[in-house]
Amino acid sequence: MKVEFFRHALGAAEAEEVARTLEQIFLTAGPRTKQFEDWLAGNLGVTGAVGVSSCTMGLFLALKALDIGSGHEVITTPMTFIATSNSILHAGATPVFVDCEPVTGNIDPANVEPAITPRTRAIMPVHLYGHMVDMRALRRIADQHGLPIIEDCAHCIEGERDGVRPAQLGEMACFSFYATKNLASGEGGAVASKDPELLKRLRRLRTHGMSKEAASRYTSTYQHWDMLDLGYNGNMFDIQAALLLPQCAHLEARWRRREAICRRYEEALANVAGVAFPRVLPGSKSARHLFTIWVDPGKRDAVLARLQEEGIGVAVNYRAVHLLTYYRERFGYRRGMYPNAERIGDSTITLPLYPGLTDQQVEAVIAAVSRAAA
Ligand SMILES: Cc1ncc(COP(=O)(O)O)c(C=O)c1O
Repeated sequence: MKVEFFRHALGAAEAEEVARTLEQIFLTAGPRTKQFEDWLAGNLGVTGAVGVSSCTMGLFLALKALDIGSGHEVITTPMTFIATSNSILHAGATPVFVDCEPVTGNIDPANVEPAITPRTRAIMPVHLYGHMVDMRALRRIADQHGLPIIEDCAHCIEGERDGVRPAQLGEMACFSFYATKNLASGEGGAVASKDPELLKRLRRLRTHGMSKEAASRYTSTYQHWDMLDLGYNGNMFDIQAALLLPQCAHLEARWRRREAICRRYEEALANVAGVAFPRVLPGSKSARHLFTIWVDPGKRDAVLARLQEEGIGVAVNYRAVHLLTYYRERFGYRRGMYPNAERIGDSTITLPLYPGLTDQQVEAVIAAVSRAAA
């Protein structure tokens, strides 16, 4: 049985919303974008959200909004997608990796404090696979050192840990609506925050630093705009928002289906020799964005190949960032520096996880993994 790695759930409702949007005047950031931003902020229980072109752009703008750049360091994790640490490099700052927890793959707050130097300007945790970092612990450390937290929430809209949701304890939280994300528009992102001043700065930075955005330039009589900041062209636009808006109502139901699939994977794969997986810790609701297993690093690539031969779509999220060629050559990183991230990076395989998977497909994945790992 063929099982795609991912299939989006966009359909007639999204097509209709796009068609309705085309009847309006705005193609760029306009009322649909605003509607989506308001929904996201309400869902997270924070002051506001700013729609941007991608999570990568969001992370970059968040750093810029804090004036982080050359000569500064930002502490982050090597167990992530390259966008996290690349955004720090694009801002002109230096990513400082600290190792992750062995059980969740999330940045280990205990490793953060020893990495703080006089050049540290922010901490950038990643809620890996949708399981939230221990934000209460991280917030305590950040407060002791007067550091802001920029959360990489690319995997984590629906998550919660110890009563804390994404964006609630960080200064800014960046979301992705990339093609395979829990809310998907192909490309897209948002930055949520409790801080009105940061939201204002982000809004300006996403449109060239202009004092007025397109929608406000249109809806009132012409007034000159000014350039207040060196900004970028990074806004979400209304067609993207039109693709996202109909999905908002299904967010929780689709999470429930992914949760049920993950529980079935966990139940069945717990009995398969040579297969382990990250744990959801007590007090945590994982957003269940990705389901990964760990196999013997010596066999990982063979298991990957075998699963694909059997028609099962797979991926690797992620090989440790510090061992990728660019990072090794530029910063001299070597194997052995972040053992937990390396162990996860060498042993991980990501299995299909999306609401449209049928029970039969889930069983086919389990059977194929059991055969391949044997
Ligand atoms: C952990 C993480 N951070 C950042 C990103 C970047 O998101 P985007 O593709 O929206 O720029 C991704 C995307 O896959 C991601 O997985």
